[in-house]
Parts: sequence; structure tokens; C-alpha cells
Amino acid sequence: MHRPAEPKVEATPRKLFIKTYGCQMNVYDSARMADVLAPIGYGLTDCPDDADLVVLNTCHIREKAAEKVYSELGRLRILRDERRARNQGDMLIAVAGCVAQAEGDELRRRAPAVDIVVGPQAYHRLGGMVRRILADRGERCVDTDFPVESKFDALPEESAAQGPAAFLTVQEGCDKFCTFCVVPYTRGAEFSRPAADILLEARKLVDQGSSEIMLLGQNVNAYHGLGPDGEPMTLARLIREIATIDGLSRLRFTTSHPRDMDDDLIAAFADTPKLMPYLHLPVQSGSNRILKRMNRGHDRDAYFAVVDKLRAARPDLALSSDFIVGFPGESEADFGDTLELVRQVGYAQAYSFKYSPRPGTPAADAGDQIDEDVKSERLQRLMDLINAQQLAFNQAMVGRLVPVLFDRAGRKPGQIIGRSPWLQATHVETTPERAAALFGQTQAVRILRGAPNGLVATLEHEASGATARPCST
Ligand code: 5AD
Ligand code: SF4
Repeated sequence: MHRPAEPKVEATPRKLFIKTYGCQMNVYDSARMADVLAPIGYGLTDCPDDADLVVLNTCHIREKAAEKVYSELGRLRILRDERRARNQGDMLIAVAGCVAQAEGDELRRRAPAVDIVVGPQAYHRLGGMVRRILADRGERCVDTDFPVESKFDALPEESAAQGPAAFLTVQEGCDKFCTFCVVPYTRGAEFSRPAADILLEARKLVDQGSSEIMLLGQNVNAYHGLGPDGEPMTLARLIREIATIDGLSRLRFTTSHPRDMDDDLIAAFADTPKLMPYLHLPVQSGSNRILKRMNRGHDRDAYFAVVDKLRAARPDLALSSDFIVGFPGESEADFGDTLELVRQVGYAQAYSFKYSPRPGTPAADAGDQIDEDVKSERLQRLMDLINAQQLAFNQAMVGRLVPVLFDRAGRKPGQIIGRSPWLQATHVETTPERAAALFGQTQAVRILRGAPNGLVATLEHEASGATARPCST
């Protein structure tokens, strides 16, 4: 359900610059914040210099991510002071997202230039906050509530098309409380949007030209939104429903927890061809001792069992994961277990992080923190292994004809970039006219080279002289 958009109050368009940090859910939220601000006269610009309103949509997952926000705020304050000195107008500065939620008071203290602090569950109220400040300059606004109303009900309809590959948030928050993680505190309890609202939004995205949808949630496979029969619906059922939309050719979902990878969802990889053969399934550690201390709720064998079932259902499934090295108390033997798990599973790609103690999380108070240099050395060893696996995975594609959905222009004219079914960035060079025609299309291309971060391919007819035809996967 959507409320009607607020009436326009601004005759001259104002410029809005949004900088997004962190995960894909923030990318989605940033687009929705632009939707919230459009009815009060703000249009997007891609440069902060002449922006009337700058929104930093922030990430609090690790200390580094949070600290970046403070340095950016320092730069923005200088920019704003220069504009004021030149009489070029004012600039409002808003901090949104998880740093806003977790560090509202700290932000006000450390960054007095900030006008608005708005948490991830309250940004549907951003328009009202901006209007209040403009009406009463000098009054700062903070809203880090977890409002009883869902922001999804209050947000205006999506206005701008997202492009060939779109994000759609179906679930938010987390009740798992891994001992290292801030998400349950910053994003709040698990919440699933009703299936009917999601289907409506998915249809709209397809009507606007998207042919791939990535369903998003911090714990997306714990999805349990209201179904059409009034009963909770699983992610597997939701996927099968969305897959019936004509014009949609690819579906993905992220991020999943191994504990919520139920048999029906695994079966969806076998029975729903639009569901792409790629799954991000974070395990964090390969050591049972550490998994227990992380409160992950499963051991390594349970993870292997899920991986085996998935591969039985979809033999070409590519897996990715997140790993944390140097969690409190992690011994060399524990870390060895992680390396061994990576060798056993074999990943198409994976993200690895040094453990970063986050204030307010249980692990931050553990007495057996690991030295930074030990963390760095373990991170390097893990990354070497993961990078080698990723390169081997990409190189194994050489010579194959792979359907790619082209969704980005390359840097030079004639370069176009898309994604393979296994989420590999695939680069093609052709004529500028062909590149333009390929945008938004799915086209089978011949893989020439596997690089560390993606694939290089050529259009089949340019390699063989045959006529290329678009294909559907
Ligand atoms: N330190 C390091 N990495 C973390 N992550 C979450 N919290 C922390 C932390 N405190 C990582 C996990 C998660 C990913 C999104 O970020 O691997 O899956
Ligand atoms: Fe954080 Fe764990 Fe929840 Fe993932 S499952 S969001 S790591 S608490």
C-alpha cells in the first residue's frame, strides 16, 4: 500500500546528492530516499559541489566503514562553508543509514555541520524533516526511531527506473544476533514485506525495463511475509510467484543464512529456471569452536550438508561467502579450519574481513582479542586462496558461450559490461552502435579470457560471422 505523494511545494528544482556506503540494501534505500525527496522539489545530481542537500547513506558494519563517514563530513563542511562565503546558497547535510542509527549522539558531537540524522527505518519521514529545517533554519533534526508504521507503507511509488538489473528489498533486520554484528541493533528486528506489495513492485520494475531482480534482505531466506491466503509465505514460494512475471528473465536473492536454507528453497534452484545459479551463503568461519562463539547456530558439517544439497539440486551452482578472520580467541588451528573449508567448498568468489570490534556487540568485550598484525597476515593468506579459486572459476569459462545481461557502459566507446548467470562481470568490446543496442539485452557471448575479477568475451557473430540472436537466460 502506498500513500499518495506529497504535494509539490518547491517551484525551482533543488539539487540532491546521495552518497551510498555499504551493502546493496543501502543502494536500494538511497533510491527510495530520492523518491521521498522528489515531491518536495529535489532532483538528483552526481556531484556534491552545487548540491542543496547532501545525504550520506552510511554503513556501520566495520569501524573503517563508519570512520569514512566522518572524513566525508569534514570535506562537506569545507564545501558548504566555501559556498556560503561565495553567497552561492546553502547546503543541508543529512546522515542516513546505520551510522545514523548507531551513533546519532556521537554524530551530533563530532560533526556539528550535520543538519539531519535519520535511521534506516525512518527515512520515509525525510521530506518532512527537510521542510521543517528549511522553514526554521538552525533547528537540527534527529529521527532514529523504529516507527510502528512500516516505512514501506509510507514510501511513495518508485519513480525512476533502476535499469536492466534492479534491487528489491523484501526483508529487513535480523533476529540472529551473531556476536560480532551490529545489524540487529541498527536495522532492528526481522521484518518481511507482504508478498502482494513485493509482487506489485516487481511488476513495476519489469514494466520500467528491468529484466533481472535481486531480492534483498539482511536475512533474505528467513522471509516470511504475508501471502495471498493470509498465511506467511516462504522465500521459495515468493520466488516462484515472481518468476511468473512475463519479461522478467533473471532472479537472485541475497544475503542468506545457512540455517534458513530449507529444502524447498534449495528445490527452487532446480525447478525455477529464472533463479540464477549463484548463491551468496556466508559461513564466516570454518572452525566449530569459533562458529559457536559467533552464535551462528550451525557447525561446519551443517554448512557442508547445505552445500551438498544445493549442488545436488543445481550442479552448476556457484557459491560465494563472507569470512571474518581474527575473531576473538581464533587460534592458528581455527584459522586452518577456515582455509580447509574454503578448499573443500570451492568458491566462485568471497569476501573476507578482519574482525572489527563493534561497540555494543558481545564479542567486542571478549578478553582474547587478536593482534592486528595476526589478523592482517591471516587475511592475506585467506585472500590469496580465495583469489586463486576465483581466477580458476573464471578461467574455466574460457571457450564457453555464456548468456550475459548487459547493464553498464564501459569506460571507452564500444565497451559494454554485463553479468553472467554466475554474477561474473563480463566485458565486451564492439562498435559503439552495437554496444548501445546491447544495453539491457541478454546476449550469448563467447568467453575469451578469465581475469581475476571477471570475464572478457566477444560477440559470437563477431567471432564467427554468424548472426547473433538474443537469448532469454
Ligand atoms: N567485523 C568484521 N566483519 C564483519 N562483518 C559483520 N560484522 C563484522 C565485524 N564486526 C562481515 C560479515 C558479514 C559481512 C556483511 O560483514 O562477514 O557477513
Ligand atoms: Fe549480522 Fe548474523 Fe544477522 Fe547476518 S545473521 S545480519 S551476520 S547478526
